[in-house]
Amino acid sequence: STLFNILEVDGIPLPVLSKEMWNKISNFQARPDDLFLVTYPKSGTTWMQEILDMIKNDGDVEKCKRVNTLERYPFLEVKFPHKEKPDLEIALEMSSPRLIKTHLPSHLIPPSIWKENCKIIYVARNAKDCLVSFYHFHRMASLLPDPQNFEEFYEKFMSGKVLFGSWFDHVKGWWAAKDTHQILYLFYEDIKKDPKREIEKILKFLEKDISEEILNKIIYHTSFDVMKQNPMTNYTTLPTSIMDHSISPFMRKGMPGDWKNYFTVAQNEEFDKDYQKKMTGSTLTFRTEI
Ligand code: A3P
Repeated sequence: STLFNILEVDGIPLPVLSKEMWNKISNFQARPDDLFLVTYPKSGTTWMQEILDMIKNDGDVEKCKRVNTLERYPFLEVKFPHKEKPDLEIALEMSSPRLIKTHLPSHLIPPSIWKENCKIIYVARNAKDCLVSFYHFHRMASLLPDPQNFEEFYEKFMSGKVLFGSWFDHVKGWWAAKDTHQILYLFYEDIKKDPKREIEKILKFLEKDISEEILNKIIYHTSFDVMKQNPMTNYTTLPTSIMDHSISPFMRKGMPGDWKNYFTVAQNEEFDKDYQKKMTGSTLTFRTEI
């Protein structure tokens, strides 16, 4: 089967091979110059990875096209069924400075990452669009169970019974963590609206200087339309047994506000009520359109 093997940790379903592997992940030894890219699924992981790779390679597009997105940088916790090794092993063998991705909620992050005071870039996306994107991803990625229909997936998402658990806990947990750690907390909608301003924030956070020309190149190369056409970022080089783009392309819409095409009026009202309850006490705010 090409489905993820799922291990529940603390009630959260994770694509981890075994208990033993989870122990290895928890004991992961971070290096002080590691950079972590953290997201809840479907919040712009691939997009931010491309931006960070372009920054790392000083805007050299060919270097960024060396290999597809999935193989370019490892996830801490994921074991892909079509890959021989768990990504963790790839991370352990990587030379510094490493870029490592993770979808883990803040309370499950390996403690050495905090201890080494590693820099972390967190990208959050509004829940409604995230839900819609995750729904389509469940349809096209054979790694994940069939979502049945939107209604059912909506219920699962709201109750946090999806891979990596509750969106609400994830965004709130990382939002709180930023007060005591080196975390740059970014929003998908902001990057879409003003990529230049957001990339400049990243450069400042990474203490890196680049020319205006390279900055413009990065903005162009990481725009939705260009990434959609680029086989090294649109995931079309993966076997169809992993992702079937004829059902729904990975690079689907890339636009804030698509949820309006899926939520019924009743669902939206129910969502807004539930959202208020779940986000009580948090200072986090999201835009659901731009
Ligand atoms: P949609 O399904 O709403 O189109 P992740 O990489 O975390 O899995 O997130 C995937 C989502 O990010 C998809 O959202 C995808 O289209 C969107 N995305 C990827 N690259 C993007 C880009 N350059 N600009 C805007 N959105 C992008």
